[in-house]
Amino acid sequence: MPVTYNETSGQFRLRAGSTDYILKTAPCGYLAHIWFGKALPDEDLTYLLRLDENPWTPEVNNRDRGTYMDTLPFEYPCFGIGDYRDHAFKISAPDGTSTCDLRYKSHRIFSGKPALEGMPATFATEQSPCETLEITLEDKHAGLEATLVYTAFEKLDAVTRSVRIKNVGTEPCKLTRVFSACVEFDHSDFDMITLNGSWARERAPERCRLHHGKQSVDSMRGESSHQNNPFAALCEHKADEDSGEVFGFNFVYSGNFKVQAEVTQHKKTRLLMGINDTDFSWKLDPGETFTAPEVVMVHSSEGLGAMSRTFHDLYRQNLIRGEYKDKRRPILINNWEATYFGFNTEKLIDIAREASKLGIEMLVMDDGWFGHRDNDSSSLGDWYVYEEKLGTSLKYLVDEVNKLGMKFGIWFEPEMISPDSDLYRAHPDWAIQVKGRELTRSRDQYVLDYSRKDVRDHVFSMMKNILDNANIEYIKWDMNRQLTEVGSAQLPADRQQELWHRYVLGVYELMGRLTTEYPHILLENCSGGGARFDPGMLYYSPQIWCSDDSDAIERLKIQYGTSMCYPCSAMGAHVSDCPNHIVGRNTPFATRGHVALVGTFGYELDVTRIPQEDRDAIPAQIEEFKKYNSLVRTGDQYRIGNIFEDNSFDAFMFVAKDKSEALFEFVQVLARPNQRSRRIKLKGLDPDACYYAEDKPELKLSGEALMSCGINVGGLWGDYQSKLIHFIRA
Ligand code: DGJ
Repeated sequence: MPVTYNETSGQFRLRAGSTDYILKTAPCGYLAHIWFGKALPDEDLTYLLRLDENPWTPEVNNRDRGTYMDTLPFEYPCFGIGDYRDHAFKISAPDGTSTCDLRYKSHRIFSGKPALEGMPATFATEQSPCETLEITLEDKHAGLEATLVYTAFEKLDAVTRSVRIKNVGTEPCKLTRVFSACVEFDHSDFDMITLNGSWARERAPERCRLHHGKQSVDSMRGESSHQNNPFAALCEHKADEDSGEVFGFNFVYSGNFKVQAEVTQHKKTRLLMGINDTDFSWKLDPGETFTAPEVVMVHSSEGLGAMSRTFHDLYRQNLIRGEYKDKRRPILINNWEATYFGFNTEKLIDIAREASKLGIEMLVMDDGWFGHRDNDSSSLGDWYVYEEKLGTSLKYLVDEVNKLGMKFGIWFEPEMISPDSDLYRAHPDWAIQVKGRELTRSRDQYVLDYSRKDVRDHVFSMMKNILDNANIEYIKWDMNRQLTEVGSAQLPADRQQELWHRYVLGVYELMGRLTTEYPHILLENCSGGGARFDPGMLYYSPQIWCSDDSDAIERLKIQYGTSMCYPCSAMGAHVSDCPNHIVGRNTPFATRGHVALVGTFGYELDVTRIPQEDRDAIPAQIEEFKKYNSLVRTGDQYRIGNIFEDNSFDAFMFVAKDKSEALFEFVQVLARPNQRSRRIKLKGLDPDACYYAEDKPELKLSGEALMSCGINVGGLWGDYQSKLIHFIRA
């Protein structure tokens, strides 16, 4: 039973794998947090709330109520009632005041997990079941109910949380902050890890010691962003890849977010995560409900590696959907870096013809096939084929590609509108805008007002027209700018601050429609590279383009950071040409393949123009990818090197769940003169089993020796060289 309620102790316990999350109703009906950490015997832990210490609880000494409010570990703290730590929930009541006071009303426990209306969320599966606890709190004065929804996954150390707010009163009420999670820790001896970056260098982990006050990362860009990912981990100072206690938090949301750790006066830590409340408010009419997105909370007693593996398992089993969920993805070739905007049907067929001979399975036509788009200054929103440029119909092109035995994929940027487009000329009010203000252009484009159903319907009908007229089996959904002058021509003044969130809901609605109507189409998400690599997007697209930077060495960093919480099976990774278009670096073709094969794998180059020796290497490279893909996609990932700490090498492993085989990958970033081989300890093997490297079957060693003593990795000459070693259980 993952979720229990003990009538004697009054404790709710969520048991997730070997983790417990425990809470109970404290004096005055406030919901208090007792424990998040390793699983414990079922006993009364109320003493952890220190209710007998000065200051006493209001029932004992109401004179000190203020201090009680400021020290109780709250599950869902409200603004305005004496808890001066940062709050999770705030309103603007009809009388203009902000105070809210939520207290226990009822609870229910049930098996499975309810969907979040209109939003992505994890779900129960047969393989990975779960149970849910809903606790409803109420503020009779404000006429509001808040239902906190907790789910414990039986086999994983993962608990999820979300919140539903219902207006049970008679007047509208404005919600001005609705965070999804508040987690209290009884100490502040933590480091906080966040994933930060920029375009072409997304998700670099940064680790800082917590200090008094608030430390946070957020996005106000309308998307989860290149700059900060909606992820944070709190870990013991001594925690590393393989040991120490770690708590990971990931927000299943693709818009503005905030995650904040606050160290309080008594050296405790309060972690908050939710929709960023800057420029946010939501008018809730009587009878209406607002649902806040989901937070995934993962606990590990065995370091960061185990935390990541739990996230990977949860997302692979309980978040990613669709036909490709458990399948190898087609090996694609994308024409973006091959041609940019300079292509036509003939050129694409040339690429496809050559690619098909080498074993590549799908051609993806990137940006530039619609409207009159020859560069990035026009046509977004005009989703009809630019036949003059292609020289043929789309159907002809797709049929020709299919005849070569290849699938066909296409690029869209459905959320955008170019000022130079028929769509904008017909509907200038469809762009997000503040009436009367000049709109900021970014990449020469504006953003469509996705809060509007008429806008979404129109975009969908244009996409449908394309998809129904040719055999399209893959879509790359791009988003290349952030939001500015956020206003909607359709929303009333008192709802304009809802637009940030309504925009995200609109994107989810359209992606939902697309994936429901075209279940066979593989959807790959992209946002100027990896600006929307978040769990919300993973719910709709089983893979996301990791970064526009496909240089193998830069990718080691990007894929390392991304793997903190996202599985390799979802990382869009391609072999691109050299010198690399982003950093100008030359790396061996083999290394580029080795780095891309731990992602979805594909090519981003003009295969008709690359050196003959690279072209000749492709069939074997593809065979190598196919050979290891199932292991990489379904196995446990172990990070061995940390390229941010030692930039001379990187190493990582994928171990089969049944420990029968493992793939070890090593990249020598910088060659070292006059050194012996590196001794590298493997991870994740069965210590009692014997393994041999596939290319050296005569040498059998125990998993114990391979992990405790390590292997000698050498024989690589030059920078950027790599090798794979396949270990098989004897
Ligand atoms: C940004 C993407 O990340 C690229 O891969 C490419 O699709 C361009 N947009 C096209 O405009």
